[in-house]
Amino acid sequence: MDRVKTGISGLDEMLGGGIPARRHVALSGGPGCGKTSFGFEFIYRGAQAGENGVYISLEETEDDILSNMKSTFPMFADVDALIKAKSIKIIKPDKLDMEGIAETIEDEITKHEVRRAVIDSATMIRLSMAKEIEYRQTLFEFLSLLRNLDCTTITTLEATSPQRESVTFDIEHFVMDGIINLYNLDKGDKRIRALEIFKMRGTDHSRELVPFRVLPNGIKVDVGEKVF
Ligand SMILES: Nc1ncnc2c1ncn2[C@@H]1O[C@H](COP(=O)(O)OP(=O)(O)OP(=O)(O)O)[C@@H](O)[C@H]1O
Ligand SMILES: [Mg+2]
Repeated sequence: MDRVKTGISGLDEMLGGGIPARRHVALSGGPGCGKTSFGFEFIYRGAQAGENGVYISLEETEDDILSNMKSTFPMFADVDALIKAKSIKIIKPDKLDMEGIAETIEDEITKHEVRRAVIDSATMIRLSMAKEIEYRQTLFEFLSLLRNLDCTTITTLEATSPQRESVTFDIEHFVMDGIINLYNLDKGDKRIRALEIFKMRGTDHSRELVPFRVLPNGIKVDVGEKVF
């Protein structure tokens, strides 16, 4: 099976080498759990390795994403150069529609040989729709469109709880090829970041809850360490 290395330290090891190529993975987590940072590093590592990527932000502006990511990851010194070379593209669409987003990705694949895409977040689209059924249908159509494209996609989902026990399942969790959950867990008088690979169709993977850190040179998943 072809795999796409996320380039995030420790995560590829947990995935048995990387995300199965051309699949779509949900990155689910509560507020501030690190969804945007994870998504951005996925695009950044790809760009460094010669795989162009597009970051589609549905909430924050291009400038906000870039300035936040530069301040979170001050050691990603070549970000500006990669953006200039169009190896990384951050786009904030005017409209919140999945068809438009799929077209944008398709366009980027044709024009700039984009191989990685992040959509941050699907929850924004869900909230923009009047009816749940409408969202389900569009999500389904969107994923069918993506299936035919030569692009590996991560979509962030806003989880409503930071706790592992309270994770609930929505339509996205069933239709996506993979789910990675990010947590901000209670540990005594502080919170600790942790993740788990909840599902990844077609591959064996770690089933451990593993702590991670957001460091100036990237995210570090501390494989082999325990949270509790
Ligand atoms: N330079 C830094 N060093 C360490 N941690 C940082 C740094 N910059 C940001 N963070 C942490 O990262 C968190 C934000 O991460 P990120 O924006 O990726 O989360 P998110 O899940 O996308 O959040 P939201 O739900 O608000 O979109 C901050 O709340 C902060 O705890
Ligand atoms: Mg975010």
